[in-house]
Amino acid sequence: MELKEVLLKRRSVRKFTEEPVSYEMTEELLHAAMSGPSACNRKPWEFYVVTNEQILEELKTASKFTKISAKLAIVICGNLSRALPMHMADYWIQDCSAATENILLRATDLGLGAVWCGIHPQKRAEEKVRKALGIPEKQIPLNIIYIGHPAEEPEARDQYEENRVHYI
Ligand SMILES: Cc1cc2nc3c(=O)[nH]c(=O)nc-3n(C[C@H](O)[C@H](O)[C@H](O)COP(=O)(O)O)c2cc1C
Repeated sequence: MELKEVLLKRRSVRKFTEEPVSYEMTEELLHAAMSGPSACNRKPWEFYVVTNEQILEELKTASKFTKISAKLAIVICGNLSRALPMHMADYWIQDCSAATENILLRATDLGLGAVWCGIHPQKRAEEKVRKALGIPEKQIPLNIIYIGHPAEEPEARDQYEENRVHYI
């Protein structure tokens, strides 16, 4: 698929078939994630790949908006031990967000569906995800990305709004 087509075709998919996502496809997604840019190339990310049904059930309870049934979830965490020092540390959020978008785009390219479910900065949701996966203190769960073979196909669309662009 052309990149432009992938960009427009990427939509949040929240309904999936029972077919699991293969190991090979999962690896493709993780390669895409780690191809992303990061401030000073610190790569302050960790990826938790979840296929265990019981843990997937636990993740669903993280927030009101994470109740999605999928065969695969990738939880992206910021690793503060790898982040930039002091006031620059928060760049981990942008770094991990870039990795997240890469996963969504590659998933679309592979014919998979995916949805980004935000966790950080919701403290209660962070704690639930941390507990479900045994995430160490120095890591902060940014989101849960649910991924699977799509059972719905939201329409591709262009959200361009001319009045939000400011040429100087
Ligand atoms: C930071 C962030 C947090 C989000 N959290 C959730 C969520 O918790 N649950 C959910 O179903 N969708 C979530 N979404 C998906 C958005 O609802 C979705 O991207 C938006 O409605 C636009 O639709 P589209 O992705 O189909 O273009 C989130 C998206 C982002 C970027």
